[in-house]
Amino acid sequence: MCGIFGIVTNQNIKIGKIALESIKRLEYRGYDSCGIVSQHNNSLFVKKDAGKIDEINEYLKLDEFPNGSKLALAHTRWATHGPPTKINSHPHLDCTDKIAVIHNGILENFLELKEELLSKGHIFKSETDTEIIPHLIEEYLKQNKNLKEAIVSAIKRCEGAYGLAICHADYPNTIIACRKESPLIIGIDKGKTSYCASDIPAFLPYTKYCYILEDDELAILNAGSVEFFDIDNSDLPKQKKVQEINWNIDAAEKGGYQHFMLKEIYEEPSALRRTMKISPDSIKDFAIPLLTADHIYITAAGTSFHASLAGKFIITKFLGKYIEAIECSEFKTQLNNSLEENSIIIALSQSGETIDLIEPIRWAKKYKPSIKILSITNIVGSSITRYSDKVLVTQAGPEIGVAATKTFVTQILTLALVALEIAKLKNKDSQEEIQKYYEALQSVPDIIENFLEKNADLIKYIVSDLEKNLNFFFLARGASIATAKEGGLKLKEVACRFIEGYSAAHAKHGPISLVRDGYPIIFIAPPDETYERLLGNVMEFKARGGKIISLVIESDEKITNLSDITIRIPQPRDKYHNLFSSITFIPALQLLAYFAALEHNLDPDKPLNLAKTVTVH
Ligand code: G6P
Repeated sequence: MCGIFGIVTNQNIKIGKIALESIKRLEYRGYDSCGIVSQHNNSLFVKKDAGKIDEINEYLKLDEFPNGSKLALAHTRWATHGPPTKINSHPHLDCTDKIAVIHNGILENFLELKEELLSKGHIFKSETDTEIIPHLIEEYLKQNKNLKEAIVSAIKRCEGAYGLAICHADYPNTIIACRKESPLIIGIDKGKTSYCASDIPAFLPYTKYCYILEDDELAILNAGSVEFFDIDNSDLPKQKKVQEINWNIDAAEKGGYQHFMLKEIYEEPSALRRTMKISPDSIKDFAIPLLTADHIYITAAGTSFHASLAGKFIITKFLGKYIEAIECSEFKTQLNNSLEENSIIIALSQSGETIDLIEPIRWAKKYKPSIKILSITNIVGSSITRYSDKVLVTQAGPEIGVAATKTFVTQILTLALVALEIAKLKNKDSQEEIQKYYEALQSVPDIIENFLEKNADLIKYIVSDLEKNLNFFFLARGASIATAKEGGLKLKEVACRFIEGYSAAHAKHGPISLVRDGYPIIFIAPPDETYERLLGNVMEFKARGGKIISLVIESDEKITNLSDITIRIPQPRDKYHNLFSSITFIPALQLLAYFAALEHNLDPDKPLNLAKTVTVH
């Protein structure tokens, strides 16, 4: 989704260079155009176009600002209203070319506001919803309001979601930022420079101190200082607590890897080790309400939804209650008439900002106030945390690759920790038995580390072999269906291959018709309770000439003997490790998608049309 960056300073620093580097650090959010506005001598200077930042920079020299310029706004746009063109790129200006606005979000009532403004003689240049904002501000400025008052009046008219950064040619030391439902963080280098951005990595090289802007708050940024206001009470400044960011920019940079996606796959062992240390008290707090809930739902989007499918298997084993997994965008439609009191919704989101998830949660809370929301996210202070009764924060660290990798495994691990806490609380399994599950879980990072060390070349070879075929698919049973689905999603996201993950049993009812001599099928085959039946499915596909590639544990024999190629996960053969196979088997499929993207000359970090944080419906 769109990325916002703003800087205002009193230092002699190259703000053009900083603005350019900062929006490059927001590229991971997904974008199709970009733009920059600088301010100098009561004028605004805009450069913008559709395309990649580096390409645009070659001819527009985005970082070259008028000498002495101390304020800039920069934006990456992910098109919603109007195609990605120069005219539709942000910033957008008013009729006087004095007010510049950059925006992340969607204004729902923009058509009626546009008509009103057109009737007052305003001239619009773009097809965007955003452009109404500078014109509305212009209109309120005509009513003798100052810039803050005009902005407050304008945004009170706007329905929908917005993160906004605004500047005015005649207010040399001022950026005004405000938000509703779209993230905005303020960074402060006290007394020198202030920043605003959609995400922390944008300004992390310059300061570690930040404020998280909440819904319906407005911030006035001057060089090295900031004042906060509630939109509904905008005369009185309010206090907010400064936060110190405890990771540094190395964590958000490639560190020698060709791509973030590869780096983040290789970071999975350390991300898991950190997540293993989530405070036992908070895990317990999260687990206790699940024991007495009448209905439990788990909901999420994309990769997080697949983590939900895997995690619910692990929780159900110990909780002994049915957990219904529902894609978040379908949640309200499916439960509109049947959501009952004493229900719990477990919500998963790496970003904590996905609007398709935030909306049903807000709806559920309003509809049945007694409902509890338990959420798992990777981002402290993200929107989802505001609507949640309990929050667990995965410790994956910043994930920049659009395709989620390390956050997926840490989400499942977090659900597994909750599951084992439930086992302890229920006291049904012996403590010794539970301890064995804990030990198996603790060995998961080593298993992945070992696997990644030895298998990259094998996966590369399999990818080059698979590329000879137009299609293939992943098959699995039980909990591994989530792994298969996630493997398919990764290939769609980064390699533009429409490859499906499917139930091996169900594949008889359709996909098997695709199989011809040499048609590849990848079976996910941990030796769990579904193994013998999966073996039968492998034989069905082999009998029809399928080329069998299987993911098995190192000591596997039966499926190995039927396979043309095996990918071997160094995991002991026991039920304890099997329970966590959705964590230990996925890195193989993530690597497979990564190398497939390279094979197709695609940049796995910046898939076309995708955004890492999706804040529009
Ligand atoms: C987008 C991203 C996916 C992600 C999904 C859910 O589609 O491209 O990688 O899985 O959103 O995101 P969330 O932040 O809620 O986990």
